[in-house]
Amino acid sequence: DYEYALDHDCTTLSRHVFQQLQSFSADAQDLSALMSRIALAGKLIARRLSRAGLMEGALGFTGSENVQGESVKKMDVYANEVFISVFKQSGLVCRLASEEMEKPYYIPENCPLGRYTLLYDPIDGSSNVDININVGSIFAVCQQEGEDLDGTASDLLQSGRKLLAAGYILYGPSTMLIYSIGKGVHAFTLDPSLGEFILSSENIRMPDHGPIYSANEGNFWQWDESIRDYIRYVHRHEGYTARYSGALVGDFHRILFQGGVFLYPGTVKKPEGKLRLLYETAPLAFLAEQAGGRASTGTQDILDAVPDKLHARTPLIIGSKEDVALVESFIHERS
Ligand code: AHG
Ligand code: MN
Ligand code: MN
Ligand code: MN
Repeated sequence: DYEYALDHDCTTLSRHVFQQLQSFSADAQDLSALMSRIALAGKLIARRLSRAGLMEGALGFTGSENVQGESVKKMDVYANEVFISVFKQSGLVCRLASEEMEKPYYIPENCPLGRYTLLYDPIDGSSNVDININVGSIFAVCQQEGEDLDGTASDLLQSGRKLLAAGYILYGPSTMLIYSIGKGVHAFTLDPSLGEFILSSENIRMPDHGPIYSANEGNFWQWDESIRDYIRYVHRHEGYTARYSGALVGDFHRILFQGGVFLYPGTVKKPEGKLRLLYETAPLAFLAEQAGGRASTGTQDILDAVPDKLHARTPLIIGSKEDVALVESFIHERS
């Protein structure tokens, strides 16, 4: 009957936030409106990605480097601007920090301090973006605190335990938005005919163990011996399969549903690894824990890690709790 279908199609992100919070308070309304803006950002980026090959100047490199020393793609810049634009005149977010900005961007007009701060990776897996392979956007929301008079954004240097919401958008065969506000992990699929993200999976539970291990084995000889021992273990034992896409969001999404572990360990040259805490490892760790999984730096839970600077990096071992524990056991054996 169409009532059921109609009700299902009306379970949009904004409505789901109210359902989650069982409240229509001002805070609930703010978070609902904020998630709707994130959804708009996802739609704008998905639209450009789907036509990038046909648009002059949408693909390729900008020729400049970001604060990480990475060469920036045109899509990185576009997506970065999208998140800023959707929060202007929103009165919701007064500060945004991202992989592509050296310092946080302030939204000065009529947005009082003390609102939300958005931390985001506008395009994750940008090495895939010119070859039409999955990429994502990662976001984390926390309460903006303090005046930050010295402009060092020191109040942003908090652990993931302070996050109010986190999630990602996966630009794949379908565009999906996965989020949590601390009450489980839920997935929405974009219905292009409606232009709405519609609830597709609720209360997603990550299996306690899974067959997938996801790592860039090209770094094998740069890793610590304990990580090499773990990789040798999965090579020798039946039941493991390697999957690695070059986009953390896609590799995490697979593990969220099918179980297993993703690892981006430190190397001899970069002991803290490549992935950034505030807008890559912490938001995904928030989701992993909410879904019954785990995320570790190898020596501590990711959510307990406190950054010393905005673009601080951490090693990442994330996924099913049994698989994360197995990797940690190899690390502890050798420490
Ligand atoms: P970004 O495109 O935002 O810089 O992130 C890329 C990250 C992550 O998405 C992916 O898992 C990892 O870099 C891949 O790194 P390697 O190419 O070194 O494996
Ligand atoms: Mn990058
Ligand atoms: Mn990234
Ligand atoms: Mn990125």
